[in-house]
Amino acid sequence: MTFDTPIDRTGSHCVKWDMMPALYGLAPDEGLAMWVADMEFRPPACVQQALERMLAHGVYGYFGDDRAYLEAIRWWMANRHGWDVAPEWIFTTHGLVNGTALCIHSFTRPGDGIILMTPVYHAFSRIIKAAGREVVECPLALAEGKAQLDIPAWEAQLTGRERMVILCSPHNPGGRVWSGDELRAVADFCQRHDLILVSDEIHHDLVYPGHTHTVMAKAAPGIADQLVMMTATTKTFNIAGAHIGNVIIADPNLRKAFANTINAMGISPNSFGMHMATAAYSPEGAAWVDDLMRYLDGNRRLFDEGIATIPGLRSTPLEATYLAWVDFSGTGMAAADFIARVEKQAKIATNHGESFGKGGASFLRFNLACPRAQVAEAIRRLQRAFADLQ
Ligand SMILES: Cc1ncc(COP(=O)(O)O)c(C=O)c1O
Repeated sequence: MTFDTPIDRTGSHCVKWDMMPALYGLAPDEGLAMWVADMEFRPPACVQQALERMLAHGVYGYFGDDRAYLEAIRWWMANRHGWDVAPEWIFTTHGLVNGTALCIHSFTRPGDGIILMTPVYHAFSRIIKAAGREVVECPLALAEGKAQLDIPAWEAQLTGRERMVILCSPHNPGGRVWSGDELRAVADFCQRHDLILVSDEIHHDLVYPGHTHTVMAKAAPGIADQLVMMTATTKTFNIAGAHIGNVIIADPNLRKAFANTINAMGISPNSFGMHMATAAYSPEGAAWVDDLMRYLDGNRRLFDEGIATIPGLRSTPLEATYLAWVDFSGTGMAAADFIARVEKQAKIATNHGESFGKGGASFLRFNLACPRAQVAEAIRRLQRAFADLQ
């Protein structure tokens, strides 16, 4: 498998390319789609083969007997993350936005506050507001461009109505891999204020050399009775369309409440996702992820070197994720102006930082999970669009 080979996704109903004309005014043959967090790569052969077996069989009924699937998850978490998971702790949801929404409904009530460390993945605030809960934005601090917890400041702003924290670990955007000490500080904060901690670790396999992700359940075992862990195959293996996620809950009381919501909402597994996830969490899948990370590491280096040549732009050093987070504040331009240059002159579709909440407005997020030639082209276009700053 070579990640260099371009794959034309236009006309495949993929949101990233097929919605770009309507949302950014960019035709696929002129624009570079570097927004939505999925990759331009096919998943490993083991995942394709699992689907081919389904197609060859040709009967697509309800899924049953999840022992192989649960064992695959158990194997992956033990082998890749040193974390022992019992099969009865695992719930399957229709992705992790769905898993987060189910947590909101299970563990909070309308009007309750839910803490987000902003800037953070934009869907969190959307589902909190839609559920009639309040988004409590706790801004991350920056030290030399690197996101930091700011717990004393967050404590000062609490009102007592907060019931939950949604942690993004590793963090999207910005790609911080939280250290064990930082994770323990978040867990202590949740314990001090009696907050349920939902740890969204969807990016936990996409970590660069020199950094180690620690699963929250391992970093702070003492928080188990307030903790919901969430992991997934979808980011790791580029199968987000399968809409499948793992919600892993060790505490029996939390598990009971969550199971009740799953039943109340009538949720049962999608068999395509189950077969793909089972195949992905395997030694072959693991080898593919190792190759992927080597490739993405090259992409992030090329991108950062290119951004460093443009005065006023600063790329956040990624410790994890393929989502570059570029600060345009050094240009002195208003967001509308730098966005116009990136979209209208460079013709690159990115995610606007403002959508990630407080602290995001001067940033754009670029998806680097594409053939390296596309990263190089993006840099050439940005250098041209900002040439007058040279
Ligand atoms: C932190 C985080 N959680 C969840 C998701 C989406 O999860 P899903 O597609 O499983 O709903 C994303 C996608 O980018 C994400 O970055």
